[in-house]
Amino acid sequence: MSKDIGIKTDLGKYLWGDSLSAMQDIPDGSVDVVICSPPFEGDANIQDADRLGERFVDWFAKFFNEFERLLPPQGVVAFELGGLWLGDASGKSIQHSSFLRYLMSRDWKLIQELFYFNPQLLRPQPSVGMSRLPDSITPIWVVSRDYSGHYQMSVAQREPYARYIRGNLLEFDTSDKYDQQYERYLTEKGESAYADRWPSIVPAFLIELLTVPGQTILDPFAGTGATCHAANRLGRHWIGIERDKSLSQHVNAMFSDVV
Ligand SMILES: C[S@@+](CC[C@H](N)C(=O)[O-])C[C@H]1O[C@@H](n2cnc3c(N)ncnc32)[C@H](O)[C@@H]1O
Repeated sequence: MSKDIGIKTDLGKYLWGDSLSAMQDIPDGSVDVVICSPPFEGDANIQDADRLGERFVDWFAKFFNEFERLLPPQGVVAFELGGLWLGDASGKSIQHSSFLRYLMSRDWKLIQELFYFNPQLLRPQPSVGMSRLPDSITPIWVVSRDYSGHYQMSVAQREPYARYIRGNLLEFDTSDKYDQQYERYLTEKGESAYADRWPSIVPAFLIELLTVPGQTILDPFAGTGATCHAANRLGRHWIGIERDKSLSQHVNAMFSDVV
C-alpha cells in the first residue's frame, strides 16, 4: 500500500495518492462497504462533449473493477452522483443515469436511491447563472451485487438522524460539532472550508445504516476525511485515499480531536 500516510489511528489510515493504484495494495475481500462522493466530472473537464456521460462511465468503471475485488458479494457501494451542468449549453449531462444503467448491465443491483438535500448547492451554477432553478439535492446510489447486505433501517428513526430524514430524503441542513470543529481549525489557519465537502452527518448516517462496528469502510475520494473521521468515531475500520495533497490542512482540521 502507498506509504504516503496523512493520518493514522488505531482503526484506519488516510493515504495520499491516486486511488486506482493505491487500491491495488488492499487485499481481496477486505472491505465491507465503499462510501464516496466522486468528482461529477470524472478525471477531466468533460462536460462540454460528454452529454451521455460515456467518458464518465469509462472512468468510474475502473474504480468498480477494484470494488468488485475488494468487496464480498453482499458488499455495498454508496456513492453520491448527480447530473453535471454543461459548460457550453444551459442544461445537464446524464452521467448518473448512464452509469447506473452500466452497473446494472454488470449485474450490480440498485438497493435504494437516497436524496441528499444540500443547501450549499442553492448558489447559482456558473454555467447557467440564474437561467435555471439551482439544484438542491444530489442522489446517493446504494448498490450491491446481492440484495442481502446489512441495512439497519431503525437508524433513520433515532437521533441525531431522525429529525432530518423524511423517507429517502436526507434533509441534513445542519452543521454538527464535528463540522464546527473543522471550520474553527481552518479559520484559525486563515483558510476556508472545502466547497465539495459533505457535512459529517451524511457519511455518519450511511455508515450506521450500512455497517456494524468492526467492519471496514473505504472512501477512495476522501477529500477532507469526513467519511474517515465518521468511521473512526463510530468504531469502524476505515481506509481513505485522496490524490490532492493540498487538502492536508483540511484533513488535519477534520481529525483535530483525534490525533
Ligand atoms: C467531491 S470530492 C469528495 C469530498 C469528500 N466527500 C469530503 O467530504 O471532503 C472528490 C475528491 O476526489 C478526489 N479524487 C478525484 N480523483 C481521484 C483519484 N483518482 N484518486 C484519489 N482521489 C481522487 C478529488 O481530489 C476530490 O478531493
